[in-house]
Amino acid sequence: MPHTSTRLLHEAETFIRTAYTEWGRTDEIGSRLREIASDIGLLGRYEHTREEAEYGARLAWRNSNRCIGRLFWRSLRLLDFRQLSREEDIYEALLQHIDFATNKGNILPTLSLFAADTEGSEHRVRLWNHQLIRYAGYVTENGVIGDPASIRLTRAAEQLGWRGAGTAFDVLPLIVQIGTRKPRWFPIPQELVLEVPLHHPELDWFASLGLRWYTVPMIADMRLEIGGIHYPCAPFNGWYMGTEIGARNLADADRYNMLPIVAARMGLDTSTNVSLWKDRALLELNASVLHSFKSAGVSIVDHHTASEQLMRFEQQERQAGRAVTGDWTWLIPPVSPATTPVWGHAYANEIVKPNFFAPTDSPY
Ligand code: ARG
Repeated sequence: MPHTSTRLLHEAETFIRTAYTEWGRTDEIGSRLREIASDIGLLGRYEHTREEAEYGARLAWRNSNRCIGRLFWRSLRLLDFRQLSREEDIYEALLQHIDFATNKGNILPTLSLFAADTEGSEHRVRLWNHQLIRYAGYVTENGVIGDPASIRLTRAAEQLGWRGAGTAFDVLPLIVQIGTRKPRWFPIPQELVLEVPLHHPELDWFASLGLRWYTVPMIADMRLEIGGIHYPCAPFNGWYMGTEIGARNLADADRYNMLPIVAARMGLDTSTNVSLWKDRALLELNASVLHSFKSAGVSIVDHHTASEQLMRFEQQERQAGRAVTGDWTWLIPPVSPATTPVWGHAYANEIVKPNFFAPTDSPY
């Protein structure tokens, strides 16, 4: 057996043993492993059953060191699109994901699985998008309009023939590439994009800033690895923690950079750090995100509750006899981190598989 096959079989075995043991079905391990060994021997690959794929995706979430929301790993639902091979069909599947996961605001953690890369590089499915829904960013003479994080992808989309309306919140198209074929872009129908306009529980002027955010963060560019099988296209989502929007997307100086504007409207002295204008503006921006999502009936979690949920996850994992891995620098929330129990915890940042992996190269 070639070296790569030995390795694949080894990875498969580790995963199959873990999954079937956690399911209490150890009696099936032997026969399943013989089947997999035979497939690998004959074809150099094996296929996950639907339930193996779904559980593998759940384990990848459980093993995501940077995720504070892992308590809910068992609730991840798999949409199985592995058989699709045409751009149009993949596009339709992505729309189905968006609609299913959004669920009118009662967000469902969902992962869509597309073909494994064992199908050969000419069939490899890849999304150019970082998230299924994200705002475009345009460089203009008067600075950037929209999300500066999307400038390169926006240019790439324009080169493929897409034209945005030019607002600060234009939803980018889906860009699907199969193998080395020319990528194709598809618009997301506006009625599938649930967004929340931001307002504030006390500051009446806040709504006039015209801020908004989309409701479902669907990471689209990470590779999913389960039992030695690589899935280059496996977009997944949970729901937002408020600070992702209020303390990063809308606040970072290299994103929407709203703190100076919010602080000015609050009448704060922005000429000195000692007024703590950034901190005060940050707090109200975050209050508005949580308040607006809540009053729109859209799933969201504040960072205190999310931290408590992470503590429960850690407890659960310890009780199950498993070590919790984590990346402390990502797990602490960007607002008031030392007020949360995550602050005082230490985590081993070891990579356990199944897991999600950031792309190593950019397709555009
Ligand atoms: N931080 C990213 C954003 O603000 C989303 C990452 C995934 N977040 C999540 N809650 N699952 O868009």
